[in-house]
Amino acid sequence: MENFEQYLIENFKWFHRHPEMPYEEVQTTAKIRELLTAAGIEILPYPLETGLVAVVRGQKPEDRVTALRCDIDALPITEQTQLEYRSEIPGHMHACGHDLHITAGIGAAILLQERRDEFGGTIKFIFQPAEEESHGALKILKTDVMDDVPYIWGFHADPTNAVNVIGIREGYVTAAVDRFVIKVKGIGCHGAHPDDGIDPILTASAIVQGLQSIVSRNVNAFHPSLLSVTRITAGNTWNVIPTEAELEGTVRTMDREDRILYERKVKEISQKIAAAYGAAAEVEWVAGPPATYNDGRMARICEEVAYRLGMETVPEESSMGGDDFAFYEDLDTMGRDVPGCYVKIGTGVGHPIHHPSFCVDTAVILPTAQYLAELLLSEVYDER
Ligand code: NI
Repeated sequence: MENFEQYLIENFKWFHRHPEMPYEEVQTTAKIRELLTAAGIEILPYPLETGLVAVVRGQKPEDRVTALRCDIDALPITEQTQLEYRSEIPGHMHACGHDLHITAGIGAAILLQERRDEFGGTIKFIFQPAEEESHGALKILKTDVMDDVPYIWGFHADPTNAVNVIGIREGYVTAAVDRFVIKVKGIGCHGAHPDDGIDPILTASAIVQGLQSIVSRNVNAFHPSLLSVTRITAGNTWNVIPTEAELEGTVRTMDREDRILYERKVKEISQKIAAAYGAAAEVEWVAGPPATYNDGRMARICEEVAYRLGMETVPEESSMGGDDFAFYEDLDTMGRDVPGCYVKIGTGVGHPIHHPSFCVDTAVILPTAQYLAELLLSEVYDER
């Protein structure tokens, strides 16, 4: 393809101008389909409303299968850059670099399609909807796309590093993301006669304090984790003690056992503190994606490929944020171990992701596509 870099940049700008919300990536999916089809790349006939899976088949006799996840959705943010290709959709923005993920994924697929006589096996490109909503991966996993995939690659834009710098780490890199809602039920009464009721606000305050003891007293100090209460709702005036209070928040863990411990302790502490105050607490636990774990062999391949392409590598920052990429690796979701590796692609130092002025240096697009193509051609040997 003549001037491939220009082609990728032009399409990146199109995706940037047309951000779509989770599960609404209709135009985005149509555009991905159009570009891949024009390049002669096969799209698997899955009944997905948004997102798609493309396949490049090598022509050498080999039955190796591998996969790359690219997320495609945008955020409800009003863009504040002055880019000539800024978002055309008010209130929506590609502020997490998923426009880069789409374009680099398409680029890698085209590069491999053109080189398909050099390798064998099947390379799947998963263009996944609704990462920002944390469960888009589960839509993809309802299909059989991963049934024959032994390991998976993932990547994310990183505005804390320069172009041509790749963040790589073995081990946990994103946290398990769980949400809780606690309903505290007391007995409402006059603000001047608290003795006539049971105050759910005082009870909720004690629960907030109690919950912070989990991280400091129950979790191994070498295991990263946190709990944040992010909302308290109760009452509507100054002289009435209400009947109910509601707390909401999130728990972030890396270790699987810690995650189970938190769920148990959040319930226990809430219910027992409430009982001590004469109130009752109901805890709803909403499990999100698990933690992403980077396989050691795959992390070493990520380093080797970066070295071969003349890129710099740095230790990847682990994050208490989540990514639903972790579902593809998850034993509970997949019924088997699927090693994965999720690297951070330096996109030029600037505003953080999810910021209205976040922007990707377009110089990163072609090298990212080339890097991903090389990763996908790499053999992951089983050393066990
Ligand atoms: Ni993202």
